[in-house]
Amino acid sequence: MKDTKRTILTGVKPTGIPHVGNLFGAIRPAIELGADYLFIADYHALTTVKDAKTMRGLVKELACAWLACGLDPKRTVFYKQSDVSEIFEIFTIVQNITPKGELDRSHAYKAAMDEGQSINMGLYNYPILMSADILAFDTTHVPVGKDQEQHLENAKHIARAFNAIYGQTFTVPESLIEKSVATIPGLDGRKMSKSYGNQIPLFAPANELKKHIMRITTDSSLPSEPKPTDHVLFQLYSLFATKQETDTMAKRFLVGIGWGDVKKELYEVANRELTPMREKFDYYMANYAEVEKILSEGAGRARKKAQATLERVKIAVGI
Ligand code: ADP
Ligand code: TRP
Repeated sequence: MKDTKRTILTGVKPTGIPHVGNLFGAIRPAIELGADYLFIADYHALTTVKDAKTMRGLVKELACAWLACGLDPKRTVFYKQSDVSEIFEIFTIVQNITPKGELDRSHAYKAAMDEGQSINMGLYNYPILMSADILAFDTTHVPVGKDQEQHLENAKHIARAFNAIYGQTFTVPESLIEKSVATIPGLDGRKMSKSYGNQIPLFAPANELKKHIMRITTDSSLPSEPKPTDHVLFQLYSLFATKQETDTMAKRFLVGIGWGDVKKELYEVANRELTPMREKFDYYMANYAEVEKILSEGAGRARKKAQATLERVKIAVGI
């Protein structure tokens, strides 16, 4: 009925062109983990995106970005959530065993309430849809950030509750929370985040990348003075440079180096790494039909699996 091997699945909401923090904090780790299923959570984005053109643009950028960052669609089934209608049938079924109280306690919903936002049912039901995303694929492991841990608990509870009522049907998933992934600092030293506007965009042209790096906050210490290696410039440098380059830079920080020189060298290693990714991104953006073909093949593979699960679920409930 279900296989015993690991099945890794994760979803990404289309929320804008990723930045350097997303690359090292989320995209690279997910690709390196070798996810079996990776999808664009476009129906989830409907809770906030209310404009068709914006939605299409965000989905396109996200799909091109992941492929440019090295997602291999042969290894990973890459699809749009909206193309797999079985997920929404499973969502409808499992709603009936989801206690309302559990959704009332959801952090995301409570935070929106506290901010005085008007709550739509999409936001309220978000954890049920996310559970359906996961349960449709007999997922065993879900790599997510800490903020998604509660949603994973919801998915586990729903799977267990269903199995308790109808007999073993769903695989109970586990979250994979990567503790070793560091928080990447942004231009001002705080966590790099769209919400702070301190991000380095991944696919900006070389001259813009340079401009961003030049804007990184430094102090007025002299070039001859030692510099702290917990500075954002050093941290970013070590992400892009080789181990040997990083060791050399550490020594130079110790004896003293001009901030301007560090910025120039950071630009060089960052541009070296980002240039091929930028070229791929531009290629996919200009040849989006190829990406659509990849997504549609992914949807075909995803649906085969989700159909089998749905069939099992319908038999279990007697429909
Ligand atoms: P933002 O904070 O820019 O809005 P998101 O919340 O959309 O970014 O994050 C998308 C993914 O990227 C999440 O998995 C998140 O943990 C990761 N991420 C975002 N910013 C960073 C950062 N500065 N360092 C490490 N990981 C990050
Ligand atoms: N809720 C996740 C986020 O906001 C995105 C997501 C939707 C997801 N469905 C998922 C993640 C299923 C993992 C598994 O980032």
